[in-house]
This record gives sequence, C-alpha cells and structure tokens, in this order.
Amino acid sequence: MSLALSVRGGDPGRLATPLLAVALPTGGVFPRVLSALDVAYAGALSRAVRNGDFKGAQDESLLVVGHGRGPARVLLVGLGDGSDAYASITRAATLAGRKGNALGVRRMAMWSEKLAGDGVEAVAFGLSRGAWDFTDYKTQPPAKERPKQLVGATVISSDPRGSRGALLRRLQQLPGNVCTPEYLARTARDIAKRHRLRVSVYGRRELKRLKMESFLAVAAGTPQDPKLIVVEYRGGRRGDAPIVLVGKGLCFDSGGISIKPALGMEMMKYDMSGAAGVLGAVEAIARLKLRVNVVGLIGSTTNMPSGTSMNPGDVVTASNGKTIEILNTDAEGRLVLADVLSFSARFKPVAIIDAATLTGACVVALGNSATGVMTNDEKLQDEVLAAAKRGGEPGWPLPMWEDYREMIKGDIADVKNIGGKGAGTITAALFLREFVPAGVPWVHLDIAGTAYSETDLVVIPKGPTGVPVRTFVEFARGRAR
Ligand code: BES
Ligand code: MN
Ligand code: ZN
Repeated sequence: MSLALSVRGGDPGRLATPLLAVALPTGGVFPRVLSALDVAYAGALSRAVRNGDFKGAQDESLLVVGHGRGPARVLLVGLGDGSDAYASITRAATLAGRKGNALGVRRMAMWSEKLAGDGVEAVAFGLSRGAWDFTDYKTQPPAKERPKQLVGATVISSDPRGSRGALLRRLQQLPGNVCTPEYLARTARDIAKRHRLRVSVYGRRELKRLKMESFLAVAAGTPQDPKLIVVEYRGGRRGDAPIVLVGKGLCFDSGGISIKPALGMEMMKYDMSGAAGVLGAVEAIARLKLRVNVVGLIGSTTNMPSGTSMNPGDVVTASNGKTIEILNTDAEGRLVLADVLSFSARFKPVAIIDAATLTGACVVALGNSATGVMTNDEKLQDEVLAAAKRGGEPGWPLPMWEDYREMIKGDIADVKNIGGKGAGTITAALFLREFVPAGVPWVHLDIAGTAYSETDLVVIPKGPTGVPVRTFVEFARGRAR
C-alpha cells in the first residue's frame, strides 16, 4: 500500500488529526512556535522535554494522548544531534510512519522546525518508507476487526510545496515464483507506459543473437525465459550522453551446480534487488521529470541446477569477446553483468553505475550498514558516494589495486569467475571491470548487505530496504541540468 502525501502550512496545534508526529533535536528545548499545541496538551509536551522523559535522541519516541483539542495524539520523535539534517529527518520520519501504521491510524501529520524544500522531501520519503508494509499473502481478519492501515499523511511545512516518493520494495519482497524475469519485464513495460519511455526486452533467442554466452550460461539451467530489459528515459538534451544504470536481476539464486546450503537459501529471492533499484530509480526520475538522460539495463534470470545447466570448468565467450572460465556456478551475477555491461557500450554512456547483490564477502566486510563501492574512476566514485550519503544509503570504498587482478587471471581462458580465498568483493568487481566499455567511468555498488535485512533495523522492519534507489535518484539529480 502506498501513502498519499500532501503538504500544508498552518499551526499544528489547531490540526484535527488522529496523530501528529513532532520531530525534535536533542537539547531539551520545546519550540515556542508549538505553544498552541502545548497549551492544548496542558503543558504535557514541554514538560516531557524539560524533565527529560523525552531527550530527542535518534530513534527515541514518546506517545502522548490528548484531551480532545487539537491532534488526538502527539508522537515526539528524536532527531539526535542533527549533524546531518536530511538524514536525521528522514530517519525520524521513517520511525514516525512505522509507529503510525502500528497504531492503526488511517491518517497522520508530521511537523519539524522550518520544514521546507529538502526537509519536506525527507519527511515525505521517511513517512512513506516507514508506513510501507507487505501483507499480500497474510489472510486478513474479517473487515470489522481489521486494523486500519496508514493511507494518508500530511507534512506541515513553513513552505508548502509538493513532494512525492516512489516504492519498489514490493518487487524485492515478492517471492521468486511470482517475481520472475517475465514479471520484471512486465513491470518495466508498465513503468514505460505510465511515463512514455522507450522499453525493449530481449529473451533467450535475442541473447543468442547478441552472442551473450556468459549471461546465457547462467540461464542454461532454467526453463524460464531470461530477460535483458532496457528502459530509456530521455529528459535531457537530445545529444547528451546518458547515465547508464545496470541492475543484477536474479529472481532466485540457488547457486546452480555449485549449490548453496539450505539454511537461509530463501533469502536469494532478494538477488534481484539491483534490478528493482534500477526500475525504481527510472520511475522516480521520470516522475520528477529530471532534465537528464538515463538508460536502465537489467539482466534477469534464475540460477538453477539441472541437466542443461552450466558446470564448473565450462568456458564461455562473453559478447565483448573475452573468454571466461566458470569455476563456481554460484558466482553467477558477474556472468550476467559481464554481458549487460558489454551491451551498455551501444548507448555511449557518460557514466555507468551498476548495483548488484554480488558477494557474501561484502556482508562480511561491511555488514548491513554500508554498500561496497568500487570504481575505475575515483572522481565519479566521490560523486556517487556523496549521492549515496544524501540518500541515506551510505557506501564505503574498497580498493581496486592491480595486485588483486592476479587472482582472477584464467588458467585456460582470459579470466575466471572466482578469485582466491580473500578479497571476494574486490575480485568480483575486478571481474566486472573487464567488461566495462573502454574509457567509460564506472562505479560498482555491492548491495549484498544493504538491499535487505534479516533483522529489524529499528526504523526499517526486517526485509527489503529499497537500497539503492535513493543513491541512483540523487546521482541523477546531481547530474540534471
Ligand atoms: N547472490 C550471491 C551473493 C549474496 C550472498 C548476496 C549473500 C546476499 C547475501 C552471489 O551470487 C553469490 O553466490 N556469490 C558467491 C561468490 C563466490 C562463489 C565467489 C558468494 O558470495 O558466496
Ligand atoms: Mn550466487
Ligand atoms: Zn547471486
């Protein structure tokens, strides 16, 4: 369910709403502009701040029930020390949206000091992120007993201009038997139709014609038709080289013949998070009508063992002519991306950013708190890191030194698809670099640890996080005219 958002001005103390979230920083001062609200609450709000019942720390919240005047309830939420205003407002709003949904109110409002422009957007984004819930497969109680869902929210702004947010976490959360490569292709077509974008979908037959042996090797074990999906948004000038966004779209990764252990294998439905990120970003960029050209590329299939699947030891030739020794069929994402990155050359990109749940090693290195970031161009990398930070999806750079390249040199082919024991995230990125069109700045985002969470992350429940949509959108926004 997505949240209908509106923006308005006015005094929150006179607002008739079942729930008003008020975001406050640490420091123990209750804002004077909220005096009408405090009076309606018989001074309970300022008292809670003064006596330390509410300190304003990050992720802190306090629910106060009213007396029949003004908002029915006030939820104080902490902003922390507010060193990064955009990020802390986003986080507080996410928590508020989540609490609002849990309380079973249909509408809520949120106020924070001097909300305008970016701040309004941060609140809008946070509220819709927090309110998001996935109940498609839960049998619902009879209508009368059903808890209400948060469907609308108002941002109270000193500068009421509109803002909106996009949601693609749903795609991530859908199970592999529903969200198939065909389903992703259909979703891309829907987005294209809504925003009048050009879309092309290539299936097994076309991939053969394009000589994508590496991509096809991964798809060899599944009867489902693999899909190379292209969505083109042209918001910039005609001749401007596009930003190309590339996403790994493995709708399920069993590991293939190098099969994964059973425990936790169900998590591999999230192996299409990079692809969901690309679709979400293209949709958001089109909605925002950013003046920039963006091409989204998705390589989608499933990785399955079967009598027709690829086997360890197989050698294939990717569409850029390089030969690959497949030593582990579970290192399949890079095999798909090798051909998709090669394919991107035809768009003559100004920059390429790919996102992939590529390596378990990245989760070991950085946990769930940072995306692994690697590049062939450090200036572009700085730009992407800044965009990621702005979007509240922090990344951290890993080195791409030549020493590591030794580890992926093939014995009988140009490269092999796994490195040695160590530096698995870096060797995977170095493998991808072999297929990036010559001279094009490129950044790789390893989102294995950040695309979804196996535990509740306070503001985000366990499950899909929506990473890397915001990074992509912020980057495109930074590049827009
Ligand atoms: N999709 C996985 C990576 C992954 C693992 C994502 C855990 C999220 C959580 C990828 O296809 C994979 O299996 N990578 C292998 C590479 C290895 C065989 C070199 C891995 O990380 O084990
Ligand atoms: Mn794998
Ligand atoms: Zn995978």
